[in-house]
Amino acid sequence: MCVSNPVLREYEMTMSNSTISTQRLALVTGGSRGIGAAICTKLGELGFHVFVNYVHNEEAANKVAQDICEKGGTATVLPGDVGSESDRRRMLSVIREYQRLDVLVNNAGITSVGRRDILEATEESWEKVFNTNLKGPFFLTQAIANEMIRWIREGRQPQGYIINVSSISAFAVSTNRADYCLTKAALAMMTQLFAQRLADEKIQVFEVCPGVIASDMTAPVKEKYDRLIAEGAWPIRRWGEPEDVALAVAALVQGYFPFSTGNRFLVDGGFHIRTL
Ligand SMILES: NC(=O)c1ccc[n+]([C@@H]2O[C@H](COP(=O)([O-])OP(=O)(O)OC[C@H]3O[C@@H](n4cnc5c(N)ncnc54)[C@H](OP(=O)(O)O)[C@@H]3O)[C@@H](O)[C@H]2O)c1
Repeated sequence: MCVSNPVLREYEMTMSNSTISTQRLALVTGGSRGIGAAICTKLGELGFHVFVNYVHNEEAANKVAQDICEKGGTATVLPGDVGSESDRRRMLSVIREYQRLDVLVNNAGITSVGRRDILEATEESWEKVFNTNLKGPFFLTQAIANEMIRWIREGRQPQGYIINVSSISAFAVSTNRADYCLTKAALAMMTQLFAQRLADEKIQVFEVCPGVIASDMTAPVKEKYDRLIAEGAWPIRRWGEPEDVALAVAALVQGYFPFSTGNRFLVDGGFHIRTL
């Protein structure tokens, strides 16, 4: 368990496995910034104990956890590269101490390295993007699902939710981000595969599919998207905010969709609507 902020460390010490067992728990990968940070904040507000995962930016992750605590919630900062097998194992060993995880949000993601044209794309970028955006979420989901199944069967938690944050790049081509598009398209199938396999285990699996959202990821291409918005590239003429995606995740894990699984939930301002 890594809580480097003294305030949080003190808080952690007041928590024991027995007191937390009635509280719902959520792990958000890439929770330090952007969409993931907004999801952490929202789940904290809903009363979840939030594991705020990050890979590099410890300060930002601490800030997210601290904000949750200041609003009366609880959080643990959990470092780890989702693309690394040993890091995933270490993250899981921390969560195992709590014997419960109600929600996994596979949010961590990176864009194509250098945004190179498909004719110049490199294997190096492919490996990095696939590790982070697809292999990591797949094997993290596999590992967490096995634990969730056990905890549900033991009556430690009533059910589970797994949310995969994909992208409109799953169906809209960007020829300078082929590896990114491919991973996001594959996340849609991954959602359906796990949804099918886990339905009997009381675990629902959803894909949340954001459109263009203001974050560090889109900051380098801000001018391009400003122009597209002005031209009406999607019906709701504004940037999406991380909070827009967080609200969708919050809705899905509240239990309002008990007869649904494997769905794609678009948060894209209507970008997917085709017009003539
Ligand atoms: N922004 C958009 O327009 C948009 C649209 C559609 C989909 N999405 C998807 O939404 C998700 C979040 O995007 P964002 O815009 O919020 O990105 P962001 O602002 O760049 O933040 C990325 C987050 O992922 C973490 N991360 C990166 N690699 C990681 C790894 N290997 N292991 C663990 N954490 C890792 C980062 O941690 P550190 O802080 O430690 O670096 C950070 O918290 C991504 O999956 C992205 O593909 C974004």
